[in-house]
Amino acid sequence: MKVLFAVSECVPFIKSGGLADVAGSLPKELTKQGTEVRIILPKYGNIPALYKNKTKKIAEFVVAVGWRNQYCGIEVLELNDITFYFVDNEYYFKREQLYGYDDDGERFAYFNRAVLEALAQLDYYPDIIHCHDWHTGMIPFLLRVHYQKRSGYELIKTVFTIHNLHFQGVFPKEAIHDLFGLGFEYYREDQLKYYDCINFMKGAIVAADQITTVSPTYRDEILTDYFGEGLNGLLQERKDRLIGILNGIDEDVYHPEKDATIYQAFHSEQWLLKKENKAYLQKIFDLKIDRNTPIVAMITRLTTQKGMDLIERVFHEMMQENVQFILIGTGDVAFENFFRRMEANYGKKCKCYIGFNEEVAHQVYAGADLFLMPSKFEPCGLGQLIAMKYGAIPIVRETGGLNDTVQSYNEKTGEGWGFTFKNFNAHDMLYTYRRALAYYRNQPLWSQLVITAMEKDYSWAQSAFKYNQLYSDEISRSESHVF
Ligand code: GLC
Repeated sequence: MKVLFAVSECVPFIKSGGLADVAGSLPKELTKQGTEVRIILPKYGNIPALYKNKTKKIAEFVVAVGWRNQYCGIEVLELNDITFYFVDNEYYFKREQLYGYDDDGERFAYFNRAVLEALAQLDYYPDIIHCHDWHTGMIPFLLRVHYQKRSGYELIKTVFTIHNLHFQGVFPKEAIHDLFGLGFEYYREDQLKYYDCINFMKGAIVAADQITTVSPTYRDEILTDYFGEGLNGLLQERKDRLIGILNGIDEDVYHPEKDATIYQAFHSEQWLLKKENKAYLQKIFDLKIDRNTPIVAMITRLTTQKGMDLIERVFHEMMQENVQFILIGTGDVAFENFFRRMEANYGKKCKCYIGFNEEVAHQVYAGADLFLMPSKFEPCGLGQLIAMKYGAIPIVRETGGLNDTVQSYNEKTGEGWGFTFKNFNAHDMLYTYRRALAYYRNQPLWSQLVITAMEKDYSWAQSAFKYNQLYSDEISRSESHVF
């Protein structure tokens, strides 16, 4: 089985969020299980030289972006037995950031066309193109309306994974012609039309043979008005081709026994060694060194999706407890400033690092006792998985992947290894936070929670198996999806 991942970011080359972690780790497990996966992504200017200088150019051609004719170079790099293709065009991709430009629609329209054109140039026809989020959403659509009759393309099937339905790639309707050279017959409710615009994500949901989400709960949630982001009606229509498959984490990178970036390696049977990481963390963050004061950590984008409004609302109450608080993240300026102010207020027990540093993040997971993630919605969430793997007990809202991966501790049955709350409400969160801290003082019980959390399986093995099954089911279905 040959699968091509088309994606806008991928670890270790370039990352803005969890999408890159998934693109960098799922293919490894799929390969282990016998699927041949290759990955295609843009060649951004800020990919580290270590990789950028090692790619080899294997094709050059012109890609039509509406009326424009743009250069396209395809470069290849083999890394850990996986083939990566980079789409080279400096005008579109040699920029400071990955996203956030006025011409993002044009940049990714180009990328989508380039991926499809590259197949013929490389004489490489996968059984499946697996696309991820809006940046690659027009690939399934263009494949059907534009490339279907070209030889080599007719048997290719598409899988589209929704990592976050909130970001859809919505652009002026003129883009149909201007960026894709298509006629206005595609500007219809059952095609690309979205209010007065067109929508790349909608293109994928309309056209893909299979659609997945990154957790089963999120799959059900996006069928409702509250989580559906205006596309729930369409998703309802495609419900029988919509499944949720939980993300895993890369255990080559996140593993408390083998992680070279942490102060003291540890495993569940001698988890008390974790306290050495805690003391180290207190030292580097200039907090009082005390192995018995619980550290509550957050590693997060500072946005409303991640529940920052709830934190803001009750932060003073949270700081009245006997805790130390560490936050790492960047995002909305208002939240960044809020946390700068809180650090100034509560400096002795509250440290907020506005920025991101992979190594420090590992040290925080390794040293923290509790990991707070009160998301408003969460397609899967990787932070809570990493936290549990390192024995930091999660406090989460029951939504999306958080709901599927954290089971709340139940004092009657003794089951569970985390603390959860249902409503998106600051005081429900505060109550749950206090509940968790009360249990922290019961060390035998805490020990049980930490060991249970650490011993859960967060690997990709089971989920990769489900993707493989989905690919092979789709390949054996003779007809492509008709729309
Ligand atoms: C997005 C989602 C997050 C998910 C990640 C990887 O960043 O917000 O919940 O874990 O994609 O699928």
